[in-house]
Amino acid sequence: MTQTDAHRPVGVFDSGLGGLTVLSAIHRRLPGENLIYFGDTARVPYGSKSKETVIRYSLEILEFLLTKNVKYVVAACNTASSLALQELRERSPVPVLGVVEPGVLALARYDDTIDRAGVIATRSTIRSGAYEKTASRLLPSLSLFSKACPMLVPMIEEGFLRKNITELILREYLDEIEREGIRHLILGCTHYPLLKETITRLYPQFNLIDSSEETAVQLEQDLTEKKLTGEKNNGRVNLFVSDITDSFRDMEKLFFGSALHSVEKVVLGW
Ligand code: DGL
Repeated sequence: MTQTDAHRPVGVFDSGLGGLTVLSAIHRRLPGENLIYFGDTARVPYGSKSKETVIRYSLEILEFLLTKNVKYVVAACNTASSLALQELRERSPVPVLGVVEPGVLALARYDDTIDRAGVIATRSTIRSGAYEKTASRLLPSLSLFSKACPMLVPMIEEGFLRKNITELILREYLDEIEREGIRHLILGCTHYPLLKETITRLYPQFNLIDSSEETAVQLEQDLTEKKLTGEKNNGRVNLFVSDITDSFRDMEKLFFGSALHSVEKVVLGW
């Protein structure tokens, strides 16, 4: 890559709009970078799909982002990062960063002598064992307690963040983690940072690890090392989705904090 590549945008993708939590962390940390986001809103959720399907969808999105001349790709979706990162890296001419490794690094940054932690995520992420594999590489003494929480994504998408039913469902999943005596908990799904406040109220002893902030930190480091930082760019954010639904603007505000101006629909695959 050459110096002029720094002007190219960073591509960020997710199965839907949940990855806007990662996009907003990147936008806050690197306000000058031009960002292109693709949310596969027509085919969400990925968290209950097979590895083969998630790989196919992720590679289709990579192809799309490459047509936008991106200099770097961030797989903001934990499920895609867990199931398709290797294939994305093999196919991509530009670097690809997932969110699993930043989540584990955030834990190591907090305390590299940690010997026990928990991770909550979608079924497919947990089944893939990606967090365990990454932890055994980066924090070999860590024993990780994993728990799939399939009800959390639909509940968050309904905007149920602080209701009684939210607390009941969280207790159903997290009481077991509390009983295990776990203190550090990785939020291994794009949507879960929105539950931080409620989880902290119910389980004040948990130290919640949010991979979106750490992903932005890793991206910044990597862009700097590769001499690709575009901090003098004009910080434009373009949003592409595979479907625009009725609740689209509500979801956008839920995950990004505000509505993004430019939204374009793009149909991928069949
Ligand atoms: N983006 C997904 C993840 O982080 C959650 C939503 C889905 O299941 O597609 O795992």
